[in-house]
Amino acid sequence: MKPDKPLEPHPVLPDYYPDLAQRPAFVRGLFDRTAHYYDHINRLLSFGSGSWYRRRALLQVGLRPGMTVLDVAIGTGLVARQALAITGDPQTVIGLDISAGMLAEVRRLLGIPLIQGLMEQLPVADACCDLVSMGYALRHVADLNVTFREFHRVLRPGGALLILEITRPAHPVKRALLKFYLGRLVPLLGWLTTGQRDLQTLMHYYWDTIENCVPPEAILQAIRAAGFAEAGCHIEFDLFRAYFGRKGGA
Ligand SMILES: C[S@@+](CC[C@H](N)C(=O)[O-])C[C@H]1O[C@@H](n2cnc3c(N)ncnc32)[C@H](O)[C@@H]1O
Repeated sequence: MKPDKPLEPHPVLPDYYPDLAQRPAFVRGLFDRTAHYYDHINRLLSFGSGSWYRRRALLQVGLRPGMTVLDVAIGTGLVARQALAITGDPQTVIGLDISAGMLAEVRRLLGIPLIQGLMEQLPVADACCDLVSMGYALRHVADLNVTFREFHRVLRPGGALLILEITRPAHPVKRALLKFYLGRLVPLLGWLTTGQRDLQTLMHYYWDTIENCVPPEAILQAIRAAGFAEAGCHIEFDLFRAYFGRKGGA
């Protein structure tokens, strides 16, 4: 049964945009302006969520050579690079992103097919891929229910879903430390090392969306409601979450 109520990942954040209608343009503009610095800030973030973490998660959901991957919200290609290292064929990894700036960055680095589009309305055929992956972009969609139904639609029967995300820790001390690190220290380091104010805004926004995000249980429930079987979530350090699911009918 399809849920009829939209599930927004977080409420309107008026420090950044005045209402829901303005959010997509704000998000797209922010990623366009910071695309060139995204890998740099990602290295500063570290937190173990680097290449090895993404690669391990892809292997855990069963990615193998010969499979076709749709990496949504590809950004500069941090997940797609690892997917490509596993499948071994540039034609088997397709990237999608709404930001032209991000797509320009990934185009310089990877010779894979790229699509500019919204993950809430994937411009690809039904049942065209074996894996849909999304790294650290769940907080940016308009409606999680619609998005997860789209992921389900484009997967072949038996295909897998992988969503990587950071979640605010339940423990107050861990949460305070993370807030200081992501919400204060990394934005400052980003600005000091690049002189880019937009990078500071990106990192403030990063933390604010994490802090205000709907709870992991609601995300998992939405994944199940979209039709995914065997849905679950691997959790590490009360912080990193790898949501997974499988489309039935193989
Ligand atoms: C934090 S980056 C993630 C990049 C990469 N997946 C990673 O693992 O680091 C988020 C990306 O999501 C993209 N994005 C945000 N909202 C989107 C949407 N509705 N549809 C498609 N891409 C979107 C942004 O342009 C940005 O490139």
